[in-house]
Amino acid sequence: MIGIIGAMQEEVEDLKAVMKDCRVERHASRDYITGELEGRDVVLVQCGVGKVNAAIAAEVLAGIYKCNYIINTGIAGSLNTAIDIGDIVLSTDALQHDMDVTGLGFEKGIIPDQDVSVFEASSSLRNIAKAACEKVNPDVKIFEGRVVSGDQFVSSEEVKKEIVDLFHGMCTEMEGAAIAQAAWLNNVPYLVIRAISDKADDSADMDYPSFKIKAIEHSVRLVREMMRMI
Ligand code: ADE
Repeated sequence: MIGIIGAMQEEVEDLKAVMKDCRVERHASRDYITGELEGRDVVLVQCGVGKVNAAIAAEVLAGIYKCNYIINTGIAGSLNTAIDIGDIVLSTDALQHDMDVTGLGFEKGIIPDQDVSVFEASSSLRNIAKAACEKVNPDVKIFEGRVVSGDQFVSSEEVKKEIVDLFHGMCTEMEGAAIAQAAWLNNVPYLVIRAISDKADDSADMDYPSFKIKAIEHSVRLVREMMRMI
């Protein structure tokens, strides 16, 4: 079983529309849709925005559905001038930029009393995603790198610069690292796939609504093709 998590309705509705033999089950106040996507058994959930919602969904996918893989698909703000709106970022790893225990002497982003704070993504899932993206989105640039997540829509140069300087991420969003951590705790391979909707700067609030749909189209096409290849 492959678990697929999107935060917002727009991120999951197009996948839901092409799933077959759908059944809906409810856990922790969310609908979990099981069925076939391009011939694969999947369970799809719209988890809601933010790290807590995301972690709960990943835990349900690992614990109740015993998923072998967890994929997080959606949109993100770019943290790198080379990465433009519409481009795709595939996670090499993920961390929480708003984990802050500096008051007790820990570096920003470090989770105290836990061996790992940067969660490595599955390279085999990433290779499949890359090949799938090249096939169905031939005009879209693909980047592989760090995803940094926090309970914050990043929309200022200043905040962006601080995150980039500290964490060297390729994109920022609000769920990926929480899913990564829950996947790591359950020993389930994961991948975050994000299409860029904005540049996480002072123009982010303007760009986000206009480019969101185009960005989502790229990630949905990629995930569908990935199911055929997996
Ligand atoms: N998702 C899409 N764009 C984002 C941004 N700029 N910050 C956080 N999450 C996002």
